[in-house]
Amino acid sequence: MPRLNTNEFRHLQETWDTLGAEDPLWAVLSAPGTRGNRWDREEFFATGRAEIESLFDDLATRGVAVQLGRALDFGCGAGRLSQALAARFDRVDGVDIAPSMVAAARRFNRHGERCTYHVNERADLSLFDDGVFDLIYSRITLQHIPTEFTKRYLVEFARVLRAGGVAVIHIPTGMTPLRGVVFRMAMTRRRLARRLGAVRRSASVAPQVSSSRDQPLPQRKHEMYFLPQRTVTQLLEQHGLVIAAVEEGVNDGVHDVLYIVAKPLGRTGT
Ligand SMILES: C[S@@+](CC[C@H](N)C(=O)[O-])C[C@H]1O[C@@H](n2cnc3c(N)ncnc32)[C@H](O)[C@@H]1O
Repeated sequence: MPRLNTNEFRHLQETWDTLGAEDPLWAVLSAPGTRGNRWDREEFFATGRAEIESLFDDLATRGVAVQLGRALDFGCGAGRLSQALAARFDRVDGVDIAPSMVAAARRFNRHGERCTYHVNERADLSLFDDGVFDLIYSRITLQHIPTEFTKRYLVEFARVLRAGGVAVIHIPTGMTPLRGVVFRMAMTRRRLARRLGAVRRSASVAPQVSSSRDQPLPQRKHEMYFLPQRTVTQLLEQHGLVIAAVEEGVNDGVHDVLYIVAKPLGRTGT
């Protein structure tokens, strides 16, 4: 594996920690009218229950059986999906890079010690032993993680999944052309603002009088990353997982792919 870009990883953590400290539910699901800590908490967690119910319906339709022992919610945010999983599994581990998100998830936990939240500040899952999870679920998370880290997590998913276990992993492959243009313009604006911020900071080594006309720097925003379907399937298969199904769709101008993968019985580790 190539060396880890620690600056990039720290930036990812700082971004999500800031978002989680300001408005954790909106940072996870930015539905209209919910910005500024205006999500109704019950409604927010109801979206998680509906999503997990539809996941289990889908798995049943496909004839994919899941043991209800231990589940991993990777990129758990405020625990929207961990809480819904905890209603079905004996034990759930929610993992997130942002301490503020994990703090929010712990505040909202209704399942006591059966649902445990972890801050993971590493591009691996070394906090877990091999082959411990019956289900790994990761939704609207890997799209925000630079692909060099996502590839490491995919290998780790293969390691921590129990033989006979199932992983359901969401990673988009790209954007529609129109959404791509809008997104690239926003990214360019954001990068320029970051550079301008750095220039201002270095210029402010000498004391300065600030003007009320100074524009505040833009808020931190999460970024988007994509992986081709071939790259994902090859990596998962190389590490002993079998693709049971691949679901594709376009949501909000993004080409979404959901990988439903299984670890055959008789396999341990990767
Ligand atoms: C859009 S939110 C989704 C939360 C949750 N999956 C849900 O659907 O409710 C993305 C989450 O991924 C987390 N995240 C980003 N990079 C991560 C990483 N390297 N490891 C674990 N979590 C990460 C963020 O802190 C954030 O809470």
